[in-house]
Amino acid sequence: MTAKIATATGAQHAALLGLGSYRPSRVVTNAEICEHIDSTDEWIRTRSGIIERRFSEPHETVQMMSVAASRTALERADIHPAQIDCVLVATVSHLWQTPAIAPLISAELGSTPAAAFDISAACAGFCYGVTMGADMVRSGTAKYVLVIGVERLSDITDPTDRGTAFIFADGAGAAVIGPSDVEGIGPVVWGADGEKFDFIRQKQSWIDVLALERAVMPHLQMEGNPVFRWASFEMAKVAQEALDRAGLTVDDLDVFVPHQANMRITDAMARALKLPERVVIARDIAYQGNTSAASVPLAATALLESGEAKSGQTALFIAFGAGLAYAAQVVTLP
Ligand code: UT7
Repeated sequence: MTAKIATATGAQHAALLGLGSYRPSRVVTNAEICEHIDSTDEWIRTRSGIIERRFSEPHETVQMMSVAASRTALERADIHPAQIDCVLVATVSHLWQTPAIAPLISAELGSTPAAAFDISAACAGFCYGVTMGADMVRSGTAKYVLVIGVERLSDITDPTDRGTAFIFADGAGAAVIGPSDVEGIGPVVWGADGEKFDFIRQKQSWIDVLALERAVMPHLQMEGNPVFRWASFEMAKVAQEALDRAGLTVDDLDVFVPHQANMRITDAMARALKLPERVVIARDIAYQGNTSAASVPLAATALLESGEAKSGQTALFIAFGAGLAYAAQVVTLP
């Protein structure tokens, strides 16, 4: 007779319990970017909405920024690092093929032996992680999950590439997810379109780099305009579906936190969703640039810290990027 295996059971509901972020110290102006590419401050501002961005100093490593953001999130959640059962790190700029950075971060925080692994879903990675964390809490796989979005894109961006040099930047954001009396993380709408794999990618594989006469850093490259059009048209539909699946409408929303890819994409989505005037829209890109997996938690934390958004409010998260991978969910802000 086949042995009867017990089924894991968890909390009925999951929620974000705390958010934190880390912004690197070095401010990089558009003028500095234009020292290396044929562009202007005005072009960058009007085409992307970026006024300045942050690049990490050498000591502001992926690990250091993640630990700093996580400590803030844990403190705000009132959860001790030892209570964390799983650490998920969304990043594309931890430049080791193996091991993942998550176990190192977990060890530095004092969360060992929590399960720990990285998520490679580029800009969508944090929103992928929020869904995975919530599912773990509800299934009983973990009681508390730490989800981190972190990037040092300045390491893998070619400062002389006109298509990407002005966009990408560095930073970290973190969220603690745990059990809740009421639902705080709505059903996800997520997906990926591998037919557009080439739209944003590392220029060469590591094997290709070895075959070169002189090794180079395989920088990021992006088909900016096709990505722009895809994001502006398709992502509003994904955001609307996340609202529908949560059983809500734009009238229930207080805050909109889209991936900080381009201010014009944010505006296009807000128009397509017909967001009421009173909905607070995250516009962190102006002073932070596009930080890929870190952008949603950085932007959400900034709104809470400035008082523009408040704990208990309903927010719509949506993120999209290389893959092309995307994810959206409605959450209650911690
Ligand atoms: O985070 C992951 C997801 N990423 C995104 O969502 C980013 C999506 N893409 C974008 O944000 C935009 O495509 C960019 C901001 C990257 C570019 O804006 P765009 O409006 O799509 O510009 P474009 O590539 O269509 O180029 C328009 C013009 C061209 O000149 P002509 O042919 O009209 O004379 C380009 O040569 O702008 C020129 N151009 C530049 N000019 C000054 C392209 N790059 C630059 C530049 N500075 N850096």
